[in-house]
Amino acid sequence: MRILVTGGCGFIGSHLVKKLLSMREIERVINLDSLTYAGQPYNLVDVENHRNYKFIHGSINDIELIGEILSSEAIDSIINLAAESHVDRSIGSVNEFIKTNIDGTRCILEQIVEHKNKGVDINLIQVSTDEVYGSLKPEEAPFVEETPLRPMNPYAATKASADMLVQSFVNTHGICAAITRCSNNYGPNQFPEKLIPLMILNSLEGKSLPVYGDGKQIRDWIHVSDHVSGIIATLKAVEENKVDSPFVINFGADNEMTNLEIVETVIEIIGVGREMIQFVSDRPGHDRRYAMGYGKAWELLSWEPLVMWREGITETVEWYLSNPEWIESIRSDEYRTWLENHYGRD
Ligand code: NAD
Ligand code: TYD
Repeated sequence: MRILVTGGCGFIGSHLVKKLLSMREIERVINLDSLTYAGQPYNLVDVENHRNYKFIHGSINDIELIGEILSSEAIDSIINLAAESHVDRSIGSVNEFIKTNIDGTRCILEQIVEHKNKGVDINLIQVSTDEVYGSLKPEEAPFVEETPLRPMNPYAATKASADMLVQSFVNTHGICAAITRCSNNYGPNQFPEKLIPLMILNSLEGKSLPVYGDGKQIRDWIHVSDHVSGIIATLKAVEENKVDSPFVINFGADNEMTNLEIVETVIEIIGVGREMIQFVSDRPGHDRRYAMGYGKAWELLSWEPLVMWREGITETVEWYLSNPEWIESIRSDEYRTWLENHYGRD
């Protein structure tokens, strides 16, 4: 298999690229990443000289570049992770989200059609999110693949739009695609604008721990390695024609926890006092609860999450403690400015 991964320098993309390069059946991995503030080439320093790997610095909005890569590298499948991924930033400004998440996906889809018209079939694995389903009430059952899309924040709306574009291209142009929807990921290499790494780094630096609203919002936290194994299982099922197109599939971990419980676990592992928790203004339009039903993934892909929460979060905290050079590499001016604008100086 010859794979184009987009957004491979980000959190999930970098774990995926490393896993793909360890698999015998994968002949080539091309990583197309525009290196936004969230793209860290340092995430892939261990594999940068791997003979089957090539990094290309460029954007999924560059439709000609995508076409060139698909032809010159004889790509079989594209795994699209390139995205603006942070809800809080999408509330500040949605422009980049529309550009990358929707229009970038459009560029990929149009190139797949162009190649199909020349007799070359290329599969797409579109990496989406549980957020496209909206927010659950406490008594409601977890989301399933048939749950109607009801995005409630600008980030989620752009991801849902991309999902719908993919579905429409399958229906209209007969391309082959899968859409994966996963719950909140945690693990090494996550950019510290997201809840868990932000709390770890703030605890280490003696800063306050900003919890939005009452801290009782619920997410279904999954270790990044389990998400990666789900994406790869989907890729194989699509390559082997084992599933119909568009194949929509959910991944979750039966690990619903409130944000406050997450923060309490992190500070207990690090050994910081509860007085560091600071309740701050709530996120506008904050989704109350996400939970994913993954029965279809178990039934059709024999997939299930393997990492237990306590083991995964302890290993994650230890990773941040033992990788100060990674932390230094992500401390860009842009990141500092974001922290100051969003939380104020403390
Ligand atoms: P991330 O923000 O860590 O990484 C995104 C990557 O995309 C970065 O390397 C960035 O440089 C790159 N990128 C951005 N715009 C680009 C463009 N125009 N062209 C090429 N590259 C571009 O994100 P992540 O957390 O690794 O998420 C990856 C994907 O998984 C996203 O599509 C996200 O919606 C989805 N997802 C994330 C989670 C989660 O909890 N993090 C859960 C479910 C789904
Ligand atoms: P986040 O990691 O941004 O992921 P998402 O918004 O995609 O779920 O946030 C996870 C939860 O943590 C979400 O309910 C918002 C909350 N949160 C805080 O309470 N404080 C923070 O500083 C951040 C970044 C998030």
